[in-house]
Amino acid sequence: MVRDRILVTGAAGFIGSHVVEALLASGRSVVGLDNFDPFYARSVKEQNLSACRTAAARNDCDFQFIEGDFCQPEVVRAAMDGVGSVIHLGAKAGVRPSIADPGAYVRANVVGTANVLEAADAAGCDRVIIASSSSVYGNAERVPFREDDPADHPISPYAATKRSCELLGHAHHHLTGRPVAMLRFFTVYGPRQRPDLAISLFMRRIAAGEPIRLFGDGSSSRDYTYIDDIVAGVLAAHDRVVDHGFRIWNLGSDRPTPLNELVETISEVVGKRPTIERAPIQPGDVERTWADLSRSRSELKYNPATRLRDGVARQWGWLRASR
Ligand SMILES: NC(=O)c1ccc[n+]([C@@H]2O[C@H](COP(=O)([O-])OP(=O)(O)OC[C@H]3O[C@@H](n4cnc5c(N)ncnc54)[C@H](O)[C@@H]3O)[C@@H](O)[C@H]2O)c1
Repeated sequence: MVRDRILVTGAAGFIGSHVVEALLASGRSVVGLDNFDPFYARSVKEQNLSACRTAAARNDCDFQFIEGDFCQPEVVRAAMDGVGSVIHLGAKAGVRPSIADPGAYVRANVVGTANVLEAADAAGCDRVIIASSSSVYGNAERVPFREDDPADHPISPYAATKRSCELLGHAHHHLTGRPVAMLRFFTVYGPRQRPDLAISLFMRRIAAGEPIRLFGDGSSSRDYTYIDDIVAGVLAAHDRVVDHGFRIWNLGSDRPTPLNELVETISEVVGKRPTIERAPIQPGDVERTWADLSRSRSELKYNPATRLRDGVARQWGWLRASR
């Protein structure tokens, strides 16, 4: 049996749907798994999947989608049929909601990842790529964040689940010898961005003349990373992890932007002044993120090229076209 299909979990989500499209564009067959977690509207995820189906038709590639929950071991095992490798992007995302419901995050992110790893091994998959997060660095003082910095002081349940996934990935590699990559994504944006995330939220509210709420004094910063750069990093990790065994890679932009500057950029792109409401910094939110890219640049040839203003303009163009 030829096992050249790639399983992408979270395929109906923001990053997952872009990764599926890119895999199909490179001629690979893909199986997508997603349970339409109600964190945001199913209709948005259905649109993401439509883009995947269009890409499959355009490239004459096979794309199969399975609606199912990877917390159920039998669902994941069935999804592995004919699959040679896994890109596990499905998760309950979002820092603040994880504080309200940590158990659900542990179940989806930790139990779910354990199931995916176990099923990948049983199916003989030759590599697993897993989404982690810059949030694992917590409020680390030394910047930029390097992959070998300590990451044992998470400040939200979400971050703790992502660090747990990394530890599970390491144990899996130790026990099976199979390559595992953990990708620490730094705030990803662009077309189809999750509606809860700052750029998407602010863009829609500023355009509608509605106030935006900023937490803290606006000096907190994020290393915003454009989706196309992230996708290139994911595909490179998929292709290269076999040379590394177990490896953690930062996928960021190495250009941290303070919140006030982000709002200014969005408002210039949208062409409207924002009405700003200030609120205290939220529990679980880190002060700053900033990726050191030395390892991913040298080992993955990762080279994020998109400037924030260009990426925000592309996201705005997409949003206007899809309204
Ligand atoms: N977007 C970011 O800025 C960012 C930053 C760091 C890490 N990440 C990680 O990247 C990955 C993708 O994030 P995203 O922004 O595309 O989020 P997303 O919510 O758009 O996509 C995640 C998808 O996983 C699916 N899912 C959740 N639980 C599932 C389950 N039990 N079974 C099957 N499917 C399930 C959801 O329905 C969703 O479609 C996640 O692992 C997230 O934690 C994202």
